Amino acid sequence: MRVGVFDSGIGGLTILKSLLENHPNNEYIYFGDTLNIPYGEKTNDQLKDLSDKIIRFLISKKVDMIVIACGTISSSIYDEIKNKYDVPIYDIINPITNQLKKLKIKKALLIATDKTIESKKFEEKLKSANMELYTQACPKFVPIIEHKSKDLLEIELGEYLYQYKNLDIEVVIPGCTHYPIISGEIADYLNVDILDIGLIVAKSLDIEYSINDLKVYFSAVDDDLKEVVKDIIGDCEIEEIKLS
Ligand code: DGL
Repeated sequence: MRVGVFDSGIGGLTILKSLLENHPNNEYIYFGDTLNIPYGEKTNDQLKDLSDKIIRFLISKKVDMIVIACGTISSSIYDEIKNKYDVPIYDIINPITNQLKKLKIKKALLIATDKTIESKKFEEKLKSANMELYTQACPKFVPIIEHKSKDLLEIELGEYLYQYKNLDIEVVIPGCTHYPIISGEIADYLNVDILDIGLIVAKSLDIEYSINDLKVYFSAVDDDLKEVVKDIIGDCEIEEIKLS
């Protein structure tokens, strides 16, 4: 099967990584919209335009299915776009909230972009779960992660997460796909487990086996980006492509 995966930048690579590990014998085409990041500050109309271009690009590459590896798009416009195209399109919030219900978690902290937090999509999906859900937008995490500015991370961890220390939170839900890249730092800071959203999404998908191939596209590429991509998924061919 040929699987298209996309995000605003490198965050979706955390989902791609789990897809590669759990469904290895497939063809993957990744698109990271580094030219238009951050998506967390875009309007729904802007996100619809951007995702339409990306989805059409992936369809032009003959994908059989598309995974929106972006919490922001999943929380804001997924319901409106999911049936608009000829290929099945999957989000990340449905599998994550389904898994949380199965795990019977009672107290969790959701961290995500402003847009995802404001959408209240997680609360909507978890209504029946009787879970105490704390929510925290962490907008400065994405630029820190994209630019590997780990020295700033300690300050921002304190700014966003200090208030959640010692609240007996069972699990942290990274509602933004960038955050698993710093899950070790978040887990150490709060001393709480971080949900493995890549694994959850990968396990929720039924992907038939075919041949093994990976192609990675970004709308803007520089040396920092190449290094970060290599850190996350290893050596791969990266191509810069501007969508019109
Ligand atoms: N990786 C993204 C998400 O899951 C987007 C972050 C951003 O572009 O603001 O929400």
